[in-house]
Amino acid sequence: MYLKSIFLGCLSFALTSLHAQDRTGFIHATMQENHAVELFHQFPQLIDIIESKNQLSAVYIHPDATHELHQKILSHGPGFIFHPDKQQAIQALDQPVGKWMNVTNYTLSESSFVYKAIDDVKADRIKEVMLILENFGTRFHTDPKANLAVQKVKELWEELIAISGRTDIHVRIINHVNTPMKSVVLTIDGNEKADEYVIIGGHLDSTAPDKTNAPGSDDNASGIATITEVIRVLLSHDFMPQRTTEFMAYAAEEIGLVGSKEIATTYKNQEKNVIAYVQFDMTNYQGSVEDIFITTDSYNNNDLNLYLIDLMETYNKTGKHALTYNYTKCNYGCSDHHSWAQKGYPTAFPFEASFSESSPYIHTASDRFTIVGHADHAAKFSKLGLEFVIEAAKTSNKMSLTNIHYKNQAKFYNDNQFLTIQLTNQSKVHTIKVIDAAGFTHLSKEYLASTKLDIRSLKSGFYIAILTDQLGETFTHKFRVY
Ligand code: BES
Ligand code: ZN
Repeated sequence: MYLKSIFLGCLSFALTSLHAQDRTGFIHATMQENHAVELFHQFPQLIDIIESKNQLSAVYIHPDATHELHQKILSHGPGFIFHPDKQQAIQALDQPVGKWMNVTNYTLSESSFVYKAIDDVKADRIKEVMLILENFGTRFHTDPKANLAVQKVKELWEELIAISGRTDIHVRIINHVNTPMKSVVLTIDGNEKADEYVIIGGHLDSTAPDKTNAPGSDDNASGIATITEVIRVLLSHDFMPQRTTEFMAYAAEEIGLVGSKEIATTYKNQEKNVIAYVQFDMTNYQGSVEDIFITTDSYNNNDLNLYLIDLMETYNKTGKHALTYNYTKCNYGCSDHHSWAQKGYPTAFPFEASFSESSPYIHTASDRFTIVGHADHAAKFSKLGLEFVIEAAKTSNKMSLTNIHYKNQAKFYNDNQFLTIQLTNQSKVHTIKVIDAAGFTHLSKEYLASTKLDIRSLKSGFYIAILTDQLGETFTHKFRVY
């Protein structure tokens, strides 16, 4: 007994000291087998290859290996996908990538709205958001500043909702298991096909060798600012989609797609029908001749890529919104769309340049807005984002009283004979009364059938109309009778 416990004690001492020395910070992940093998040859101390299958390897890896690969093996990357434990990493080797759900027939039918929307995209609004995010200094997922940035994005999006007056749109924060950082999701419920989802997203976190100095302007303040501009324009035009439309800012992409993977897994487990997912990661560095690069990695959906091309051919061929496109490949699961693709959802990833000509400053302290100095390139991606969301989610023709509910949207017009009431939420007047300054009621009506209140009985003076609509909201209006 005594001997046995000494033996076990020594063994566990040996094991823990080995772990403490060699394996601090290591995580389980999957990556392309050839990348894993190459990495093992050059940096055997940074990686263990556990098992390989289907040209993928389950590995135990130090996250710093990503920087070594960036500099020494690949022109960019290594995609490694985080897994919470060894067993899940090994299981992921069997996950079918590239098998698709039935893709809805994508159609183009919303041109008048699309043109109005893309006319409104403002590069300066994108710039503003990029600078706000960069100025956190770092958004590395374990730094408390990352969650300050999360709160800020939530506030920015809620402000856009508040300006629109809509009360049917919400922003939620998502907690994660494998990172302290949170994700942000804005949802506009679909009015007709609420169970079909159209989603655009990008990652909010950043990284650099010095984790306290990771401004992450192009990677990926640009993507979040691009998406924020899409939201701003849609809400300013009172977008009411047929399909549920969501906007996502993810936690912890840089350490292996952690935030998006947890969200995509939840959606899959809940059997949510995401009909199309488009990723915005790096949108503001124009490194190539053409503007937008469609990524043709095999896990992306060909139909969805063709749809983006169709959108650009339709809306960006000539005139002030003209832009050019080309094709490129990431060669691995290089951003959050891969998390959705792995769950079988159709994904696309329009990118800022060809991969070899994309921003060379990412993942360094130099990934700052001043490198470019304006957000004109990102604005092209907001346009494509608007085209995609509007056409894929489609405007609803049905006005839904129960779902859509505005604040402060009653208008009153007084022509001295009638007080005309316009309720922009299409609701009806429930009660209306007219009182004077002393509180005396002069007129009172219920269920006003028409929108006109006869005020010819009122003597000259000041009055206040108090109106309650069918949804219980109260509006007041002061007016004068001459
Ligand atoms: N924005 C990059 C992806 C990227 C990098 C695209 C370089 C094109 C050129 C993304 O944030 C990223 O850094 N991804 C990781 C992979 C991920 C699975 C950890 C990468 O590329 O190393
Ligand atoms: Zn990155």
